Amino acid sequence: MNTQHWINHFEANTRLNHELQLPGTACNLPEDVRTALARSIAIFQLGESGGDTRLRRYTRSIAALENLQGYQRAVDLFVAEEQSHAALLARTVIHLHGTLLQKQWTNSIFRWMRDLVNLEFNIQVLLTAELIAEVYFGLLALRCSDPVVQTVAKKLLRDEMGHLSFQRDFLFERLKTLTPAMQRLWRWQFQAIHLATACVVSWDHRDCLRRLNITPANFRARAVRCWQSFQTRLERRLNEDESHARQELDSTPGYKRSSNATMHSPVS
Ligand SMILES: [Fe+2]
Ligand SMILES: [Fe+2]
Repeated sequence: MNTQHWINHFEANTRLNHELQLPGTACNLPEDVRTALARSIAIFQLGESGGDTRLRRYTRSIAALENLQGYQRAVDLFVAEEQSHAALLARTVIHLHGTLLQKQWTNSIFRWMRDLVNLEFNIQVLLTAELIAEVYFGLLALRCSDPVVQTVAKKLLRDEMGHLSFQRDFLFERLKTLTPAMQRLWRWQFQAIHLATACVVSWDHRDCLRRLNITPANFRARAVRCWQSFQTRLERRLNEDESHARQELDSTPGYKRSSNATMHSPVS
């Protein structure tokens, strides 16, 4: 994994968030839209906050792996970028005259899930939220007429797309060590958890979505398309890596592929 690329990326990009100037205009949205948006954005704000102590502890456990040198530093910077998102969203909630939250049930479930298994699962649950955020901030940027909401949503959308690439790089490194059967199992549970999350979020944020002329079903359909796009790219990389490894084995002098060699991932 090219962790230096991500270290450079986060160092430069997070600074832009701290310096981001928001339009000085007052909120002119109709009362019902303003209230629904403020509540919805406050939930995302809570999700972006926190120091991610558990994620940092998990990353220490793989710090010695050769292909993940520097990952710990990249994760620290990634967490700092998420905190800069929390700060931008807090400014947005205040602009909308909303109330910042200390606790919320979907956020509590999300945090509980992230600590359930291991680092890979923690990243996967985080990634699930980022795939949902991609749809959510994309819709806010497109459908909300408030300049402050638009400015923040566009910036967060760009950042989250970067985060998706960062998580994909990491998952590629980890998943390529699994057999094809285990990769399929991983895909299945990832898809199921993502769909369940999309259902819960589309229901919990239904008031805001309706004010943006989006039905919960439409939101879920968009979320599924984002998941498919992410997964397709990840699988393409895994397939390319596997065929590359096969070619290398085939060109190794003295190596002759047995029937077994076609049944197992050559990198497993
Ligand atoms: Fe974020
Ligand atoms: Fe993110």
